[in-house]
Amino acid sequence: VASRLTVLKLGGSVITDKTKEFTPSTETIARIMKEISTTEDESLIIVHGGGSYGHPLAKLYRLSNGHTNQTQILGFARTRQAMMDLNKIILDSAIENHLPCISVQPSAFIRTRNRRIEDIDLRIVSGLMDLHMIPVMFGDVVLDMQLGFSILSGDQLASRLAIELGAKRMILAADVDGVFDSDPKTNPKAYLMERMTTQDAEALIEREKQDDRGSDVTGRMMGKIKEMLAAVEKGIQVVVLNGCVPGRISNALTGRRTIGTVIER
Ligand SMILES: Nc1ncnc2c1ncn2[C@@H]1O[C@H](COP(=O)(O)OP(=O)(O)OP(=O)(O)O)[C@@H](O)[C@H]1O
Ligand SMILES: [Mg+2]
Repeated sequence: VASRLTVLKLGGSVITDKTKEFTPSTETIARIMKEISTTEDESLIIVHGGGSYGHPLAKLYRLSNGHTNQTQILGFARTRQAMMDLNKIILDSAIENHLPCISVQPSAFIRTRNRRIEDIDLRIVSGLMDLHMIPVMFGDVVLDMQLGFSILSGDQLASRLAIELGAKRMILAADVDGVFDSDPKTNPKAYLMERMTTQDAEALIEREKQDDRGSDVTGRMMGKIKEMLAAVEKGIQVVVLNGCVPGRISNALTGRRTIGTVIER
């Protein structure tokens, strides 16, 4: 099972409107679930991001700083609950499309130390996959052994799962066509990098250090690529594509070439 595994990260930029708080992209979610259901023969894990559910609350309560004051405790609870709300929308749509998706809450089997995953118990996730179920996880607020708590991005989680479970491929869906040489939303001349090595990726991260985070607590595209490097080094193919365009996720899931960025060792 494991060697056929694909880890699909559905970006918060795809499944929500990141400019409007608590706004799911309902039609896009339904269309993606339908696409996944047409390619269902492979072993799959889905991780979704926070979008306009997770990021605004995490920022409001400064959760990425770790535990610094008591008002954050309610913020931790609210952020978790917002992620559960978004997760339910995803799961409802998945099940409507007959996908055997099972929600697994990351903070119940993962702890971080200084924002990096330290403890991870994969027995439950593996057991679900053995039964051909599709585990669905999400970027979450988690206990941190140094900071009290922290934010675990869906990107870090997806990359770690892919490594630990020996995935063959990781697909990252965002609201842009792939990795560009600069942010395509602010630079109309940005060009799409169809292929990248880890060296190219490292050079781009270095150049784009000033990548404006806006309301985002986990570093947007550069944060994403940073998290992918370890997986790419292990020989896992990473595809970054636009999940807002119909057909691209299903193309990538079936191993067909599609518009996007392939990152390889
Ligand atoms: N060089 C770049 N190439 C592509 N996108 C970039 C680049 N620099 C910045 N971006 C921005 O990164 C955004 C995608 O990252 P973002 O974290 O917002 O999405 P996401 O990971 O799908 O959402 P979430 O974090 O909620 O899961 C794009 O919308 C784009 O504007
Ligand atoms: Mg992100």
